[in-house]
Amino acid sequence: MDFVAVFLVGLLLFPLSAIAQSYQNVSLGSSLTTSDVTTFWPSPSGEFAFGFQRIGNGSGFLLAIWFNKITEKTIVWSANKNSLAPDGSKVQLSTNGRLVLTDPNGRKMWARPRAIAELAYGAMLDNGNFVLATSSSATAWQSFNKPTDTILRGQVLNLDNSLVSSFSDTNSSIGRFKFILQTDGNLVLYKVNYPAVDVTDAYWVTSSVGSGYQVIFNQSGYIFLQAKNGTLLNSIFSNGENPGTQSMYHRAILEYDGVFRHYVYPKTSSGMQMEWSTLYYVPENICLAISQDIGGGACGFNSLCSVVDRRPRCDCPLGYMLNDPNDKLGSCRRNFSEQDCNRESIEVEAFTFQEINNTNWPDSDYESYGGVSEDWCKQNCLSDCFCVVAIYSGNNICWKKRYPLSNGRKDPTVVGKALIKIRKDNSTMGSSTCQKRKKKNQSTLVISGSVLLASSIFMNLIALLYVFKFKGKKPKKIVVVP
Ligand SMILES: *[C@@H]1O[C@H](CO)[C@@H](O)[C@H](O)[C@H]1NC(C)=O
Ligand SMILES: *[C@@H]1O[C@H](CO)[C@@H](O)[C@H](O)[C@H]1NC(C)=O
Ligand SMILES: *[C@@H]1O[C@H](CO)[C@@H](O)[C@H](O)[C@H]1NC(C)=O
Ligand SMILES: *[C@@H]1O[C@H](CO)[C@@H](O)[C@H](O)[C@H]1NC(C)=O
Ligand SMILES: *[C@@H]1O[C@H](CO)[C@@H](O)[C@H](O)[C@H]1NC(C)=O
Ligand SMILES: *[C@@H]1O[C@H](CO)[C@@H](O)[C@H](O)[C@H]1NC(C)=O
Ligand SMILES: *[C@@H]1O[C@H](CO)[C@@H](O)[C@H](O)[C@H]1NC(C)=O
Repeated sequence: MDFVAVFLVGLLLFPLSAIAQSYQNVSLGSSLTTSDVTTFWPSPSGEFAFGFQRIGNGSGFLLAIWFNKITEKTIVWSANKNSLAPDGSKVQLSTNGRLVLTDPNGRKMWARPRAIAELAYGAMLDNGNFVLATSSSATAWQSFNKPTDTILRGQVLNLDNSLVSSFSDTNSSIGRFKFILQTDGNLVLYKVNYPAVDVTDAYWVTSSVGSGYQVIFNQSGYIFLQAKNGTLLNSIFSNGENPGTQSMYHRAILEYDGVFRHYVYPKTSSGMQMEWSTLYYVPENICLAISQDIGGGACGFNSLCSVVDRRPRCDCPLGYMLNDPNDKLGSCRRNFSEQDCNRESIEVEAFTFQEINNTNWPDSDYESYGGVSEDWCKQNCLSDCFCVVAIYSGNNICWKKRYPLSNGRKDPTVVGKALIKIRKDNSTMGSSTCQKRKKKNQSTLVISGSVLLASSIFMNLIALLYVFKFKGKKPKKIVVVP
């Protein structure tokens, strides 16, 4: 195995000089520590740097590469997304031929190349690539081959390469979305429900099975998918406008919200805003693009996704709150006690509706009625303890929705008005009747829990089969019964 690996690495080696980049050598034995983040390994131009960056205001550090000439110090690559290095950690280009990250106790957290190589030096290049080279100036390892969530000009994604989003704008842990050039040639954006990496839903595809070969971010700032013979298959950011290369910094990132964006930042302020601005992005509207059979959708369960200022946001409906206050893209839960099925008719009085136009949670229906009035729809939902939301669509149809709601979206193109059932007076929450009911219901919970478990295993199997057969999925529409 090792022999094969070494052999393959040998084949991939190519002279550094071919990259036509100037570089400053990081010599063997050099090291950096978290205690002095003002020391780092810069590229010759100073535009990129390799070293430690503190994350959030916690005590963790990322071993990272960042844009070093701008105030934001935007990170473009990192070694330890999922396990931040504690204060006192160190990275060293060891004399025995590896770049090694160790924690304060000297325990190895990360090392590259995987096997000991005959390294001669490391170098941070001006294009943002950090390389480890042998004495014959052949690259033994380079960050461009192991992207995290970002690609830069001059970088290429090969078959089976992927970008994985961060969990949130402040949490660098592996997140919920993946951009992958599959081995079958298809370039796909997936929602991934970690840790169940297999259960995924595609929400953007190039439909290039059998022909896709490389995603190229070329020096002129264009990002496209091409075939092995060089044919352009998909100009990912299709607008043909020249993105203004020399005067701008460029990066393309799969962001925590699932949108793949091409950003630019002016190198000098010639009357321009000194900030990252979005040049292009896909998909156009992620709220509508993601429609999961299993899973919450672009946002979590019960949440509503809408695009505001060209960015998706997730909002809990009135009466609902974030399940995890730190996870703004996550699920919402009721902030009131649910309707008591034993007292259905009496409880009717306790509920009312919040009405939101152009809003729906498709795929959560359990019942529908045609040829009814909106008022009838409301009364019907009020006296039904299973009904958490009713959608009244323009052509006199009433759809009743079950908990938890999924794929929630609010958009001008969505037909229908959401009638969200909420308790009028939250003070009844935690009342004695409610407490008693909870105890009584515990045995039923266990039974329905195991039934749910069995059925969810079955559904996962179906989902797996579905993923394997995936070719390209069209967004779903509600079937309107005349
Ligand atoms: C970097 O180190 C290598 C190996 O020692 C050497 O051949 C090369 O000339 C050095 N490059 C620079 C720019 O110092
Ligand atoms: C640090 O984190 C706390 C809690 O997460 C937050 O309230 C505070 O604003 C943060 N401070 C800075 C300087 O980011
Ligand atoms: C980041 O998110 C992950 C995934 O939910 C979580 O396990 C981790 O605790 C979070 N880290 C921080 C610093 O909040
Ligand atoms: C190049 O490859 C693509 C996709 O495989 C194919 O459609 C096209 O005909 C090829 N073009 C040439 C000139 O061979
Ligand atoms: C980058 O790609 C665009 C579009 O395919 C092309 O017009 C341009 O010449 C390319 N630039 C370089 C430097 O290859
Ligand atoms: C919803 O739409 C209706 C009809 O277009 C309009 O009369 C009503 O004011 C809207 N309600 C809200 C809350 O925007
Ligand atoms: C939840 O309900 C309580 C009681 O009515 C209220 O005080 C609180 O503000 C609500 N929280 C949210 C996040 O809506």
